[in-house]
Amino acid sequence: MRVAIITLSDSGYAGRREDRSGPAVRALVEAAGYQVVHTALLPDGIEPLAGELCRLCDGDAADLILTTGGTGFSPTDLTPEATAQAVDRPTPGIAEAMRYHSLQITPRAMLSRATAGIRKKTLIVNLPGSPKAVRECLEFILPSLEHGLQILKGTTGECAR
Ligand code: MTE
Repeated sequence: MRVAIITLSDSGYAGRREDRSGPAVRALVEAAGYQVVHTALLPDGIEPLAGELCRLCDGDAADLILTTGGTGFSPTDLTPEATAQAVDRPTPGIAEAMRYHSLQITPRAMLSRATAGIRKKTLIVNLPGSPKAVRECLEFILPSLEHGLQILKGTTGECAR
């Protein structure tokens, strides 16, 4: 499976802050056997991310797109809105699962507005912005994502019961 990783950070985009979350996502997905085909560091805001998501999905450039950052309450945190603009079919269970798991680690997990959904044949999932949160969320959802991606790609129609 091919993965694109997009970091949302105004300070990272301006070169004032090192992106440690994108590399954390990369390490985890590569350890799980995914192939990273694209990475990007974008400023916060709806237009840059929505445009990038549509371009990647419409060009069938990745099976899974993981974003990190911009899911909180700051006025510039607009990752969920950009994602919603690109998504054809929401997949709320993935964000629900991340918050369910994360709330057992920190009550502040309720502050992430992360969302997820499908555009064409690509699944998009928002992760929170810190490397710690990235690890906590991905370790919980990754094992189940693969099955969903196989169904999305049409390589399996069967759910083991
Ligand atoms: N989820 C997990 N698993 N671990 C965390 O430490 N931090 C929370 C939340 N989700 C956290 C988490 C906090 S403090 C915030 S403000 C929100 O994610 C939003 O983060 P973001 O704006 O960096 O995306």
